[in-house]
This record gives sequence, structure tokens and C-alpha cells, in this order.
Amino acid sequence: MAYLELQNLHRDFGTVKALDGIEIELGEGEFLSLLGPSGCGKTTALRLVAGFDRPDAGAIVVDGKNLTNVAPNKRDMGMVFQAYSLFPNMTARQNVEYGLRIRGKDRADRRKRVSDLLELVGLGHAADRYPHQLSGGMQQRVALARALAIEPRVLLLDEPLSALDAKVRVQLREEIRRIQLDLGITTLYVTHDQEEALSVSDHVAVMYGGRIEQMGSPAEMYSAPATPFVAEFIGTMNRLEGTVVDGGVEHAGTTLRIEAAQERPRGERVLVLVRPETVEVGPANGGSGVNTLVGNVVTQTFLGPVTRLKILGEGVDVIADVPTQKALSLPVGTRVAAVLPAEGARLLVLKEDLPQIPEEPASASR
Ligand SMILES: Nc1ncnc2c1ncn2[C@@H]1O[C@H](COP(=O)(O)OP(=O)(O)OP(=O)(O)O)[C@@H](O)[C@H]1O
Ligand SMILES: [Mg+2]
Repeated sequence: MAYLELQNLHRDFGTVKALDGIEIELGEGEFLSLLGPSGCGKTTALRLVAGFDRPDAGAIVVDGKNLTNVAPNKRDMGMVFQAYSLFPNMTARQNVEYGLRIRGKDRADRRKRVSDLLELVGLGHAADRYPHQLSGGMQQRVALARALAIEPRVLLLDEPLSALDAKVRVQLREEIRRIQLDLGITTLYVTHDQEEALSVSDHVAVMYGGRIEQMGSPAEMYSAPATPFVAEFIGTMNRLEGTVVDGGVEHAGTTLRIEAAQERPRGERVLVLVRPETVEVGPANGGSGVNTLVGNVVTQTFLGPVTRLKILGEGVDVIADVPTQKALSLPVGTRVAAVLPAEGARLLVLKEDLPQIPEEPASASR
């Protein structure tokens, strides 16, 4: 049974539909990431759940109780924001203790709980430091401990890691997940970083323009994107436009044998979606085999264990991730054959122009 429900949430700001019918059901103890580009409505959704804002229509239900008109401080939600929002004149301990103090918890209980929480987030040694004496990562740990102190029923996190550097971000997201699993706390996590969302979540909801494009497990979202937007937003994807013909999809003068095309009507315009790691690349040797597109390597991008090749030819524009060792034998300028998988590739029917994903200005986050 769903523990946290967002039922058909709508929120307009003037002419902007910040939320346009959001439906989410999350089981108790589950971790859902709301993922999407800047302005898609993530923060708006979280603020409605927290009670900082009211929906124009729809409801927020926790454990069967409709909280839509309940004040934020009566909702039992813990929230962590993007900006470090600690009280600057209080130590780490006092920050974490704050919520317990205003709830009138007994002093001895408070001290015990605060110490336990600071241990949990790895800050037992820094309890008496003030925020300015803590690094950004440490401050976010305190913020997390503070949000957890009141034993919230739901934990809400709005891009809590975006101000941190890459390494700390990875470390802390894993810790957040560990703590969330330990405590079994139902969690809504907002991010525009797809890798972050895929790595720590039970479920991922990709949002675009105030709507949920698709929701599923990280593996589903990666392997079976339901819309061109999701395909583009999650991971890197080749998107080859083509037309369904007998036996496959016509693209760049070649008939690609794509299993999924068998169920589609001939003449239909489609997008063939192919992950770069599923493209096989070798030197072009005259003959062209099945599902082979020929072009030249125009760039190589070293990504560690794999190297990403961009391959351009007549009507051909493909990227392929090949083992770095192999890429050494395919330097820029090499004429190569890129072989697409017949089975792994997915097809999406091309209905409209693909939405452009806006660039993510770091400072535009709210
Ligand atoms: N208080 C407000 N008044 C007017 N417009 C608003 C308000 N809050 C949000 N919006 C608009 O609603 C839309 C959704 O905003 P929201 O902050 O939810 O986006 P977001 O997904 O959190 O983006 P980001 O990744 O940049 O934080 C945007 O177009 C934004 O400009
Ligand atoms: Mg936001």
C-alpha cells in the first residue's frame, strides 16, 4: 500500500504550469528521486509535500491521512535544502537539537538522540563546532541529522549535494542512502543529476514541464525509456531517425534490422535508440555487414575504462563506447564500421519535435 501519495497535484504561477497533474505513490521506506531539468517543477512538488505551499488542485496523503491543509510543522517531515541552511550562531549539536527543543523533548533524551545522530552522519567529533568551522559536506551532514532528529515520517531533500564538489557528492549520496535504508525512512529526493538519481534510488521519476514523463526503477529508466525526452535525459543515447520498412528501419541508406520494428507499420517514422556501449566498432574493411554504419572517428573522449568515439559518415552520426585499450587502435581519422545491436535497440514512434534539454545554470536552482 502506498505510504506517500501525491494525487493529481496542480500548481500554477501566473501562466506557468509549475505542476500539471503529478501522480506519485511511494511505499513506506522507499526512496524516490524526482529528476528533471531546471524549471520542471521539482522544488514546487517538494514544497507542496512539505506544506510550504498549497496546491491549486490535488492532495498530499501520508499513511492514509490527507495532509493537504495541514500546517508544515504538523506534518512530521524533515527537509534538507540545497543551500546550507544551518543556524550560524548555533553549534552542530545545537542545530540538530533545535527541533527537539521546540517540541519540548526532555533534556537527557535530547542529548542522547543528538549524539546518536551526529555519530550516524559521521560528525561525533565535531559536535561543538559552529557552521563556519565546518566544510560544506559537513554542514550538509548536520542538516541531514537535523532533519532526522524529529523522527520525520517522510524525508525531503532538495538538491542537497549540488553545492559540493564531485567527490564529496558521491560519498555523501551513498551515506544518505545508507542512513535512509538503516532508518527505513520514506524519502523524496530532488536532483537534476541523473547519475545521482540512478545510483541511490528505488524509483526514479523523470519530470518535464510540470509532468512526470516516466517513473520506474533505475534499471527500467535506463534500459526502457518510454519517451524521447527520457531517452535523452538518462544516460547517453544514440537517436537515429528512420522509417519502418520490411525487415527493419531505413536509416542513412541502410536497412537496420531492428527486432522491435517488426511490430510497427511500414512507413512509420521512428527513432531507433541505441546505447553507446552496445555499439561494436572495428576497422571498416570494404564489405558492409548487417546493421553496419560506416564513418570516420572524429573525436575520442577518454572516460576511464571506456573511450567514447564519435563517428561521422554519410548520414551517419553515432557515438560508441569502446574499451579504452581497443580505442588505441582506432585513432581519430580511422574509417570504421559501427555495428548496431539488432535486439537491444528500442524504437520510439516519432510524433513531435524532440524537446530541447536546457543547459543547467548552477545558480538557477531554487
Ligand atoms: N513562487 C513562484 N512564483 C512564480 N513562479 C514560480 C514560483 N516558484 C516556481 N515558479 C516557476 O515554476 C516553475 C517550476 O519551478 P521549480 O522551482 O519547481 O523548478 P525546479 O525543477 O526546482 O528547477 P531547478 O532545478 O532550477 O531548481 C518554473 O518555471 C519557475 O519559474
Ligand atoms: Mg529546484
